[in-house]
Amino acid sequence: MFITFEGIEGSGKTTQIHRAAHFLAEKGFSCVMTREPGGTEIGVKIRRILLDPGHAGMDPTAELLLYLADRIQHLEEVVLPALARGETVLCDRFTDATVTYQGYGRGLDIALIHALHSDILKIPVPDLTILLDLPVETGLARAWERIEKNGHHKRESRFEEEVLSFHKRVRQGYLALAQADPVRIRVIDADFDEETVGREVIRELSMRVTGEPKNR
Ligand code: TMP
Repeated sequence: MFITFEGIEGSGKTTQIHRAAHFLAEKGFSCVMTREPGGTEIGVKIRRILLDPGHAGMDPTAELLLYLADRIQHLEEVVLPALARGETVLCDRFTDATVTYQGYGRGLDIALIHALHSDILKIPVPDLTILLDLPVETGLARAWERIEKNGHHKRESRFEEEVLSFHKRVRQGYLALAQADPVRIRVIDADFDEETVGREVIRELSMRVTGEPKNR
């Protein structure tokens, strides 16, 4: 099964994906936890280029193609082999991030991004997507707090430095995608503490992955 985690900056994806992996491993699932951009050695280098705050002048189409390059490498090297081995893949961001950040955020043609993913590159659709949703003001405040605490993340702050309206468009994009595909994309209110959000994530996984009653 292929599960992706999505959300705006500071939505807590990384924390929650770790909790999810732990929960699934305890239930006996063999899990691979990975991320985009940067889920391969080549991807780590692409990630550095993409998130470098010094690259404010990057052309949006160049940016889109770098995300796709990272994705293809990651699929071929990590995701598809793991799925073929019957493992559960938990991926921190995937195609929905490209639709929301490069489409809704940067204003690139959303139909073109969908076509690139599905018709041209034949990128698989996740079985389940957990969308952690919260107001952008809260998410950005959390993200900046983390950046200030771990100075080295400053080297990866190109998106956090975007204006509020950019992040609002990204959030609206995510909610629009979820509305269009409510079976695949499950929205979880992430404007709570880690434990509360974690319980909701586990509830969703219990319903969709481990096949247990939802209120266990
Ligand atoms: P992360 O900080 O969640 O690892 O994500 C890195 C940044 O990359 C984040 O700001 C969102 C952005 N991003 C895109 O703009 N398009 C994409 O396709 C992906 C996967 C991420």
